[in-house]
Amino acid sequence: MTLPITSIGLLDPDQVKSAIGAAVLAPSTHNTQPWRFRCTHAGLELHADPDRALPVADADRRELLLSCGAALFNLRTAIAALGAHPATTLFPRRDDPALLAVVRPFAARRPDGRLVQLADAIPRRHTNRTPFEADAIPASVVARLRHAAEVEQAWLPRLSGQQLEGLRELVHKGHHAQLADPAFLAEWQQWTGRAPDSRDGVPENAAGSMPSNNGGWVLRDFGSRDRGRPDDSEPLVVVIGSFDDTKADRLRAGQAMQRVLLTATAAGLDASFISQPVEVPPIRAELRRLLGGGLWPQIVLRLGRGTPVPWTPRRSLADVLMEPSPLGA
Ligand SMILES: Cc1cc2nc3c(=O)[nH]c(=O)nc-3n(C[C@H](O)[C@H](O)[C@H](O)COP(=O)(O)O)c2cc1C
Repeated sequence: MTLPITSIGLLDPDQVKSAIGAAVLAPSTHNTQPWRFRCTHAGLELHADPDRALPVADADRRELLLSCGAALFNLRTAIAALGAHPATTLFPRRDDPALLAVVRPFAARRPDGRLVQLADAIPRRHTNRTPFEADAIPASVVARLRHAAEVEQAWLPRLSGQQLEGLRELVHKGHHAQLADPAFLAEWQQWTGRAPDSRDGVPENAAGSMPSNNGGWVLRDFGSRDRGRPDDSEPLVVVIGSFDDTKADRLRAGQAMQRVLLTATAAGLDASFISQPVEVPPIRAELRRLLGGGLWPQIVLRLGRGTPVPWTPRRSLADVLMEPSPLGA
């Protein structure tokens, strides 16, 4: 089968294919993979796929934009690793809100070394839901994570003990609000508990062994069959926030999230997501107040050192590539 992949700027079709192959390794809520790509002579386009939205867990499609932002960050990183500069425009066409970004691989005098360093981490990053060791993460690594968020115009605030305690409570509240919502549960069942070779949704083997205590942080149970020892988990929990909450801010926050995740992977850390408090709007508003009111919380991450987990499969490239536009744009 011939894929609709062409050369773009400096990149030949094989390089374009490998860059899209890296993009689809991004995380996405329930592994929905809500993205599509199109090759045009002007650049590589990233489109949202509205058919893969989650109307209950993500009614305003905020997390869809985070997921697509993560794919965009992988794309930029892979293009930089191929020796080109990924010149990126967000929402390039007012009349087409599903067209999220266009990336043009330009000649680079010197590729962005910091991006290139993260490319190796793309296939090594997996959501790791296993118990984490109790060792504290060194301050120098936390500083790198904070810097990774800032470079992408987001923010990873220092949380006081009181704020962490408040966040822990909001995670509980969000979790129980979702479990009490039949519409949430129906959507959840549609996308989880899949066979290990399912190309989308969360496979049952991704559940791993759940931490039994996890420092009091309640996690979603994807059907894990066993529990870790009590008190064996001591995750670092961080919030990534943006300064505003427009669609472009959310797409930037997704890039920041992925930059933080790849920086963590490169530093030998594992990570998973705690998105219950940002998926329930009134609880997200409470979290915003808890953070001082200046930031829009976009995602909560749990970081530490777990045990290896299997990779979660992706759809084939044929499924995510769009045919060239009839206008040849
Ligand atoms: C915005 C967002 C929210 C997510 N929320 C959760 C969550 O609350 N709990 C969880 O275990 N995984 C969560 N995930 C992780 C996805 O389930 C995971 O990315 C997907 O199954 C693909 O697996 P991978 O990350 O190992 O490649 C989230 C991912 C994204 C991008």
